[in-house]
Amino acid sequence: MSLENRVYLVTGGSKGFGLAIAQALVARGARVGLLGRNQLDLDQAVADLGHDSAYAVAADVGSNDDLRRAFAEVAQHFGRLDGLVNNAGMARPNKVESLDEEEVRMQVNTNFLGTVFACREVIPLLRSGGSDNPRIVNISSASAAHFDEMSHLSIYAATKAAVERFTRDLASECQLDEIGVSCVRPGGADSNIAADWDVENTLAAFQAWCEEGSYRAVGMTAREIAEAVVFCLSQPRGVSVDLLELRPQRRAKKGE
Ligand SMILES: NC(=O)c1ccc[n+]([C@@H]2O[C@H](COP(=O)([O-])OP(=O)(O)OC[C@H]3O[C@@H](n4cnc5c(N)ncnc54)[C@H](OP(=O)(O)O)[C@@H]3O)[C@@H](O)[C@H]2O)c1
Repeated sequence: MSLENRVYLVTGGSKGFGLAIAQALVARGARVGLLGRNQLDLDQAVADLGHDSAYAVAADVGSNDDLRRAFAEVAQHFGRLDGLVNNAGMARPNKVESLDEEEVRMQVNTNFLGTVFACREVIPLLRSGGSDNPRIVNISSASAAHFDEMSHLSIYAATKAAVERFTRDLASECQLDEIGVSCVRPGGADSNIAADWDVENTLAAFQAWCEEGSYRAVGMTAREIAEAVVFCLSQPRGVSVDLLELRPQRRAKKGE
């Protein structure tokens, strides 16, 4: 199905999966509204995607006021709205006994509450946004369902499990409005998610992961995740991809 001229909001659209999702949508003729906190990264993403195709608003998904303002601004800028990809997310690997309170709250606020309140804000806009195929895609993580994704991710994995359970009820509620709701559950893939992780905590998590003899998957690319999101958004009206899980197919060889 063509996505020509459709308009999608992508939270966390300035980097990693979000930017790859925006690129994949623009490649199919859609236009995108990007949300993120860092204005310079947003400006760079808009320059890459083209000013006719992309519009950015600096916003923190942990703030309801930011979400409301940013969604309304994007809908007004493009004059319509067809969907939302709840992609913004972050992780802070750490052992439970060493959890940092602020980092726990940040993961819950960004990954779970950010998704909940973004959905709450977008539903009325999708009802009135002039779309004949409105959609919401929520990005989860394979860690919500599998224990071998990585170690020391208890809070992150719990926020994503919450996103998945929330998405199931959202999907049934949205049936009345014919808003398609999907959850994409990616395994590890190349992005910037680990860029600001504490080195010591990351090494400890990685070591525990190796010692547990876990999956040792070789990561996928952000582009492969983006194609899965576009697949969900491109279904014909009346068809919904409820849950799509992607995991790397290769196992790392020793030393890889
Ligand atoms: N990478 C993986 O292997 C993997 C696997 C499974 C699931 N995921 C999920 O995929 C999604 C994208 O992650 P990624 O790997 O692409 O991460 P990333 O490269 O770090 O990109 C994260 C994006 O989210 C934005 N963001 C973070 N916190 C935000 C906030 N509070 N408000 C608004 N924007 C915010 C960032 O921009 P600013 O920092 O400027 O705000 C950035 O644009 C996340 O939900 C993540 O949990 C990732």
